[in-house]
Amino acid sequence: MEKYLFSYQEIHRTVESLATRIRASGYRADMIVAIGSGGFIPARILRTYLDLPILAVGIAYYDRDNRPTDDPRKVQWIEEAERTLKGRRILLVDEVDDSRSTLEYCVRELMSHEPASIAVAVLHNKNKPKRGAMPEGVALYLAGLEIEDRWVSYPWDAVDIDAHDAAIRGSRP
Ligand code: G4P
Ligand code: MG
Repeated sequence: MEKYLFSYQEIHRTVESLATRIRASGYRADMIVAIGSGGFIPARILRTYLDLPILAVGIAYYDRDNRPTDDPRKVQWIEEAERTLKGRRILLVDEVDDSRSTLEYCVRELMSHEPASIAVAVLHNKNKPKRGAMPEGVALYLAGLEIEDRWVSYPWDAVDIDAHDAAIRGSRP
């Protein structure tokens, strides 16, 4: 099966449309929480439109001895999370909703700090059976694009960005 290839230009436009939809929804976030590393660049582009501070979190599926695990753990979290998040409106951002496990874990962990609300925005949602579930109480869930369950090559994954863009030009009518 063919991979999806997206250019920076396309990602930027997708984020712009997400920003428009977030605004139209009436959801007014106080801050973006970006899930690293894939969520960092989308979060930064979103900031261009929504002008929000960005907090970064990191989740891993390997233990301290580098062995793979089923359960996620935090490798980077929010400083003074209680004080930073309590009563605040969070916009959680990632690049792709794949298994949904990381997203579920992050939403639950953020909820434990009693924010006023949590909205979730991803560039791409893969239409597939999900291992994780969006917890009850998420105020808003938006995906920039609904896509099939295929691997996505993001521009930031490219070692040769010109070859990446050339492959996109070659694959489009
Ligand atoms: P989810 O809750 O957001 O669905 O995430 P999930 O745990 O299923 O994702 C595991 C990892 O796989 C994540 O990266 C995610 O970005 C990556 N991933 C899933 N599908 C794709 C894809 O089609 N293309 C690319 N490039 N990555 C994909 P991670 O290991 O947490 O870290 P990072 O790669 O974001 O740094
Ligand atoms: Mg990711």
